[in-house]
Amino acid sequence: MAHPSNHFQSSVGRKVVMALSGLGLVLYVIFHMLGNLQVFEGSHALNGYATMLRDMPILLWIARIGLLSLAALHIVLAIQLTLRNRRARPVAYAVREYRQASFASRTMAVSGLVLLLFILFHLLHLTAGVIDPSSADRLDTEGHRDVYGKIVHAFQNPFIVACYLTGQLGLGLHLNHAVTSSLQTLGLERAAFNRLIKAAGPTVALLVVLGNVAIILAIFLGIVRG
Ligand code: HEM
Repeated sequence: MAHPSNHFQSSVGRKVVMALSGLGLVLYVIFHMLGNLQVFEGSHALNGYATMLRDMPILLWIARIGLLSLAALHIVLAIQLTLRNRRARPVAYAVREYRQASFASRTMAVSGLVLLLFILFHLLHLTAGVIDPSSADRLDTEGHRDVYGKIVHAFQNPFIVACYLTGQLGLGLHLNHAVTSSLQTLGLERAAFNRLIKAAGPTVALLVVLGNVAIILAIFLGIVRG
């Protein structure tokens, strides 16, 4: 029987781990978007939700460490697989297939990089308060951290809005291809589910991006106010 570490080192093993880590990150992005949509219910709902998360520090830190590990694993494997694919020249590919495959992988590399830059920007902006110190943590009238006020303040600024919309473009392009291809890597492609799996990527991408863009634009256009 193959030793598990040999399996992990093979391209297939790495792709499976990449697919699983990617799908874990997708789940986070979906729940994060659903949580943030509470901005439409007002400050009481969103700040109450944010406080509830912070009131469970052990769970919060387990989730944060899990998220960071998944992201690190996903990025390292993506770099390794890209370098490996580059080294193995596509002699055996038909020209058209190669063009399609390389277009998809180049799109993934570029959108992944845009997404990574966005996440770093986002953490420095909303979590660390480095990019805009005026949006540092404040309390609302109920004594909760005013995450609602922070987001409303943020998306009144056209520069911040442009950065977040660019991030959404990277996120959408990445999810569009990644979700379908991860499900295929995991061998879930069966005749009966084929269309479902092909539709999964674009559907998840569209829903997540629409949810996030709705938040950004509703605030920027003054539909949601402080
Ligand atoms: C309109 C879009 C988004 C909004 C309004 C938003 C909002 C927020 C807020 C309010 C926080 C918490 C800041 C705090 O604790 O004070 C946060 C944290 C975070 N966001 Fe987002 N976010 C958005 C999109 C995204 C996307 C697309 C990703 C990932 C691809 C992401 C990843 C994260 C991460 C990793 C954290 C840190 C979580 C932690 O501190 O435990 N966010 N976001």
